[in-house]
Amino acid sequence: MKVLVTGGCGYIGSHTVVELLNDKQEVVIVDNLVNSKKEVLEKIKEITGKEVKFYEEDLCNLQELKHIFEKEKFDSIIHFAGLKAVGESVSKPLMYYQNNLISTLNLLECMQEFAVKKIVFSSSATVYGNPKTLPIKEDFPLSTTNPYGTTKLMIENILTDVYKANLDYDITVLRYFNPIGAHKSGLIGEDPNGIPNNLMPYIVKVATNKLPVLNIYGNDYNTVDGTGVRDYIHVLDLAHGHLLALKNKKTGLKIYNLGTGRGTSVLELVNKFQEVNHIKVNYQITKRRDGDIDACYANCDKAKEELGFTTKYTLEDMCKDSYNYVKKNTIQ
Ligand SMILES: NC(=O)c1ccc[n+]([C@@H]2O[C@H](COP(=O)([O-])OP(=O)(O)OC[C@H]3O[C@@H](n4cnc5c(N)ncnc54)[C@H](O)[C@@H]3O)[C@@H](O)[C@H]2O)c1
Repeated sequence: MKVLVTGGCGYIGSHTVVELLNDKQEVVIVDNLVNSKKEVLEKIKEITGKEVKFYEEDLCNLQELKHIFEKEKFDSIIHFAGLKAVGESVSKPLMYYQNNLISTLNLLECMQEFAVKKIVFSSSATVYGNPKTLPIKEDFPLSTTNPYGTTKLMIENILTDVYKANLDYDITVLRYFNPIGAHKSGLIGEDPNGIPNNLMPYIVKVATNKLPVLNIYGNDYNTVDGTGVRDYIHVLDLAHGHLLALKNKKTGLKIYNLGTGRGTSVLELVNKFQEVNHIKVNYQITKRRDGDIDACYANCDKAKEELGFTTKYTLEDMCKDSYNYVKKNTIQ
């Protein structure tokens, strides 16, 4: 199968490209490198022994995107490309709506023009807003608390309408919980510039002395130790979920949670990281952040039943692999 992977140089995209290549799929990446580096392509080659075709292009450029579709004749698409920083989306909402929506609309227009009917889309657990009960199932009510989340929900709605008008389309929406970890080789992973938005990159930056202290926002939540609880999933398990979604025999419009189904508190994650990596992480408890919720974890029964999705990596693996990646790439 010839697969277009948008955003394939990014964190989740690059791990998924490795998974696809190992499964002998033909992969073409389109990425404008706004949040990734071209060197990732070399690393993918080092891991898989395979070269990936790459277009450095912005999906918002419809004419160029059409040229790529015309030339490549894709069978399917995995659409990772998008801006993803929640805080930035609050201060620059237009940038988020423009980038995430226009890129997706262009992609859907190309799908229509070049008769590509299969797409897997990266959505997020953020579309569940503040869930009333746990674990979260796919049919829970949807709402958002920031422009980033709203772009995800809007795209889900657009995909639903496109499907209603084209019942022969095959659309999979994957709602990710909290991906962390990195490839076992330490060649690809996540190491954002500046102050990270997410917990694990922050922990790693403190552990490697790039930041002085980890702020834990609130210890009075209604959870096991008062700190926020999330569902962390190893990026390799998440990447595998995409291959399963691509090969799924069930057609139509499908929505799946991809998580582990287990909640882990901030303190539990920090303690596990210290324990498995034998390193101290300085932290301090500060006040709650606006918009944060007590707990969020998935019910993944649907993905298990329909995709055969299960996770094989533990929290230990996630902590070790995240640290290994940054350590390895700091020394080099
Ligand atoms: N990482 C998470 O915690 C998380 C959780 C839920 C959902 N998601 C979603 O999964 C997807 C991938 O996330 P990630 O963590 O790998 O992010 P990432 O930033 O590492 O990867 C996204 C890639 O898309 C590219 N890109 C962005 N806009 C583009 C455009 N207009 N044209 C071409 N390329 C463009 C970036 O350069 C980057 O390489 C995103 O859509 C994100 O919103 C991520």
